[in-house]
Amino acid sequence: MAYLQTDVTKVTTKVLQNMKLHGEKIAMLTAYDYSMAQLINRTKIDVVLVGDSAANVMEGYQTTLPITLDEMIVYASSVTRAISRALVVVDMPFGTYQGNSKQALASAIRIMKETGADAVKLEGGEEVLESIQRILSAGIPVMGHLGLTPQSINKFGTYAVRATEPDEAQRLLHDAHVLQHAGCFALVLEKIPAALAATISSEIKIPIIGIGAGPHVDGQVLVLQDMLGITQQFKPRYLRLYGTFGDDISSAIQQYVSDVKTSNFPNEKEQY
Ligand code: KIV
Repeated sequence: MAYLQTDVTKVTTKVLQNMKLHGEKIAMLTAYDYSMAQLINRTKIDVVLVGDSAANVMEGYQTTLPITLDEMIVYASSVTRAISRALVVVDMPFGTYQGNSKQALASAIRIMKETGADAVKLEGGEEVLESIQRILSAGIPVMGHLGLTPQSINKFGTYAVRATEPDEAQRLLHDAHVLQHAGCFALVLEKIPAALAATISSEIKIPIIGIGAGPHVDGQVLVLQDMLGITQQFKPRYLRLYGTFGDDISSAIQQYVSDVKTSNFPNEKEQY
């Protein structure tokens, strides 16, 4: 099928909605820094997510809970300085929107004002509805995130597949309707059965972006460093490797170390 939206100079929430309408898949990746974002910007990626997975990938934490709003703002503004075409979405970190919708709005406004991003993403369903409504009331686009929501890892106790039982699947479908009705422009579904994701995707009119949610959704998202083979300990079944850059980077660095130690670097042409 022809790529109908390829020629747009800036991806907006409306463009994503059109893509869903025309059955054109949405490609989304994470980014946290200017150099990687510049490489991404040379492609036709549709959405760049400044994910709170930065806590794991950039900062080495076991969970996403410790990352702060100030840190997310530094990562996000580095990314927006490099991205011209893709829609840039920024994760609201743990503790900046749950349970207090005024704080949620203040956090979202900081993200929008200080980073130049296009939208925010937050995790959860009906329990964060008031926060979502308040953020939307300020004209800030919100992407929802259901299924495995890593900020709730201490409640789940595991990163295993979610919604495998009928009652949780039913709740997830209900939450997807609640978020759509509230006005979210898209939803991420993480690590749920492919059949459930397919049902949600056909029932829900806004774009559904999957990660570990099978092929019958409107788009896919992966963590950049995971798909490039840089973060090597993380190997979930859904992850496809598009490179072995972790090994390539280590070999290049080892070669540099050897060249320095053997006085092979710099040579005559590499000096003044
Ligand atoms: O933080 C993140 O990278 C995410 C994606 C996994 C969807 O939320």
